[in-house]
Amino acid sequence: MTRTHLPFGDKRDSAFYGTDIVSVSQFDKDDLDYIFEVAHEMRNMVARIGAFDLLKGKLLANLFYEPSTRTSSSFTAAMERLGGGVISINEVRYSSVSKGESLPDTVRTLERYADVIVLRHPDVGATALAARYTTKPIINAGDGVGEHPTQALLDLFTIREELGDVDGLTVTMVGDLKYGRTVHSLAKLLSGFDVNLQFVSPDILPMPDDILAGLDESGAPYEQLNSLDSVIAGTDVLYVTRVQRERFDDEADYDRVKNEFVIDTDTLTAAKQRMIVMHPLPRVNEITMEVDDDPRAAYFRQMEYGMYVRMALLAMVLGKA
Ligand code: CP
Repeated sequence: MTRTHLPFGDKRDSAFYGTDIVSVSQFDKDDLDYIFEVAHEMRNMVARIGAFDLLKGKLLANLFYEPSTRTSSSFTAAMERLGGGVISINEVRYSSVSKGESLPDTVRTLERYADVIVLRHPDVGATALAARYTTKPIINAGDGVGEHPTQALLDLFTIREELGDVDGLTVTMVGDLKYGRTVHSLAKLLSGFDVNLQFVSPDILPMPDDILAGLDESGAPYEQLNSLDSVIAGTDVLYVTRVQRERFDDEADYDRVKNEFVIDTDTLTAAKQRMIVMHPLPRVNEITMEVDDDPRAAYFRQMEYGMYVRMALLAMVLGKA
């Protein structure tokens, strides 16, 4: 996608107007620059005036079939800071889904009330499916072990805001790389940059073959490892993920690997001073709380960057950026 518009016009001919956000694969580098330009402007606007009326009169439907704290509440915060309103269905068991309503019918219902739908669902491909049944823009907030594109966008924005240029960095992803949809989306997104990727995981939780095949196709260099020791000193971004108990069929497998990688202050002793520790959160044990006091711990700042990126995305798909 290419565009020439600057932020905050009423640009209904914007390439993003009415666009579904399903996968990071739909964005090229110009798109990313544009999203981050708008997100950066949103950050400045929030710092200056807190909230403004760019999306006054617009409604967002937050439809979550899986639990969420950050994605759900940051989309709500983003919409409300832009002057819009939110319909929240955060527990679908209290909705007509519990009576057997299908996903297509649920989104066909919500599009009658709202201007944009944000969907989290346990099935890979659910957002793409739902998008076929609604004319309103729909945003993937996580589809099972598939993708979490807005998380990857906020992750990349975090890296840019914290470290400047993305090219030349070594990004080390550690933890559950098999079921972690955030690392799937981020690896895809980073493959368009000149980065060095290191994947560190328990033996039963490697990065999936389809993601590795995509990296091979794009020529992005990567290494798969089972220890952090040899890579921590050269790492610029340490991206830690939770081992996702809810994705395991066998609890014994989860117990065997859940604490295999724990980032603590000793880990950071070996790391660069100018590096950042990221995590999509929630965390369980994989980063100790002592690390929170280290300025390199970027994971709480990362959540806030997410609100600015989601403000930008909402403004764009609704034709206001
Ligand atoms: N990072 C993330 O997706 O967090 P939530 O599950 O709390 O939305």
